Amino acid sequence: MTVITTIRKVTIDLENKAKQIAKDLSIPYVTRNNLGIDKIKQQENVDTVIVVKKDKLVLDLPTGEMFFHPNMAQVRMKRLRCGDIDNMLEAMGGREFLQNKTILDCTLGFASDAIISSYGVGPKGKVIGLEVNPLIALIVKDGLKTYLPTNYDLKSAMDNITVINQDYLSFLKEQADNSFDVIYFDPMFRHALTDSKSLNPLRQLADMRAVSHEALNEAKRVAKYRIVFKENSRSLEFSRLGFTKICGGKYAPIHYGVIDLN
Ligand SMILES: C[S@@+](CC[C@H](N)C(=O)[O-])C[C@H]1O[C@@H](n2cnc3c(N)ncnc32)[C@H](O)[C@@H]1O
Repeated sequence: MTVITTIRKVTIDLENKAKQIAKDLSIPYVTRNNLGIDKIKQQENVDTVIVVKKDKLVLDLPTGEMFFHPNMAQVRMKRLRCGDIDNMLEAMGGREFLQNKTILDCTLGFASDAIISSYGVGPKGKVIGLEVNPLIALIVKDGLKTYLPTNYDLKSAMDNITVINQDYLSFLKEQADNSFDVIYFDPMFRHALTDSKSLNPLRQLADMRAVSHEALNEAKRVAKYRIVFKENSRSLEFSRLGFTKICGGKYAPIHYGVIDLN
């Protein structure tokens, strides 16, 4: 169970924001009243508290805090700006192809890949990110809007992502044929990489299901050019799902399976 509160030095804006989120998520709003978060958990008999802070939303989970930060995307964007290539963008067709395209990111998570996709398609392209967990969707949607990067390209890429809290299978079923240029899947790996620490906070809440054949078939109908699927390079998921074209360096820990549709 989850409740929402604010920082101790609450303003009317923060209080209104917390009350609006409480309404949207149908969860109780708790007045902070100078209480510690552990005290609120005890008083409300919950294990998770959303705290509305001045600059961000923080999820206080039983295993620690979780909040949005575009750290990995920042590093990748810096490399791209220095002329390096990004393996995910290459798997999606390369930067020239991606200009002005629409990408459906079925597994948004912390939105690092979506930010890079958004940079790849440019300001006239579009990225829609789906996240099934309502708490992850909430903090990432809010973070993409409120985090203030010093870098204009990062800000513009973040602004051009639409976050939808929905399961990708149900979303795909609602879409017309060929309605996105590229569809991207990055499910939680069947065997996590031990050094992918950036995803550690996400593991507490993330949906761990594997991609089904049904979802992949829907994606083949909805995508116009390409489906890209990210996994541990040693994963058997590539062959289970029928990906024969695999991109990524020979020794890279992560590979991208690609299905070209025309
Ligand atoms: C490995 S993470 C994605 C990381 C992301 N690519 C990034 O750059 O931060 C997978 C995310 O997909 C979400 N997810 C898993 N199954 C989903 C589904 N059926 N529909 C929508 N989101 C899903 C999980 O909750 C998790 O947040």
